[in-house]
Amino acid sequence: MKDYSKLILEAKKAREKSYSPYSKYKVGAALLAKNGKIYAGTNIENAIYRGTHAEKFALDTAVFNSEREFEAIAIVSAGEDPARPCGQCLQDLTEFDIDGRGSLIVIVANLKGKIITFTLAELLPQRFGPKNLGIDVKKY
Ligand code: THU
Ligand code: ZN
Repeated sequence: MKDYSKLILEAKKAREKSYSPYSKYKVGAALLAKNGKIYAGTNIENAIYRGTHAEKFALDTAVFNSEREFEAIAIVSAGEDPARPCGQCLQDLTEFDIDGRGSLIVIVANLKGKIITFTLAELLPQRFGPKNLGIDVKKY
C-alpha cells in the first residue's frame, strides 16, 4: 500500500479549521486527485443544522477546480474509532467513481495515529451512480 501519510496530515490540518459550534465534532478531509493535487475540506456548521461535511467540502472544491478523477480521500476525526464518511458523503463520492468499481481509497484516521483503509466499494457495496443513468461524468 502506498504511503498516504501526507494526505492524512493534510486532513488533520483541515480538521483544525472546522467550524462546529453545535456538535463540537471536528472533521477534516483531504482528497487526492489522480494528478497528484490535494483538496482539503472541513465540516462547517450553522444554526439551521444544514452544514457541510468535510468530505463534501473537499469534493466540491476539487470539482470546482475541474477535477473529475480521484485516487484517495483521508478523513480525520478525534474519537477512538475513526469516523467513516456518512452515507451521504459516500454517495457524493460515488458521483466520481469513474470505473464503477468503487476503487477510491478511503482512509480514516484519528488523532492518536489509528489508521484504517477501505475502498469506496467496501463502504458502499451496492452503489447507485452515474452509470445507472448512462452518464460518463468525465465528459462534464
Ligand atoms: N460530519 C462530517 O463532516 N462528515 C461525515 O461524513 C459525518 C459527519 C460532520 C457533520 C457535523 O458537523 C459533525 O460531523 C457531527 O455530525
Ligand atoms: Zn458526510
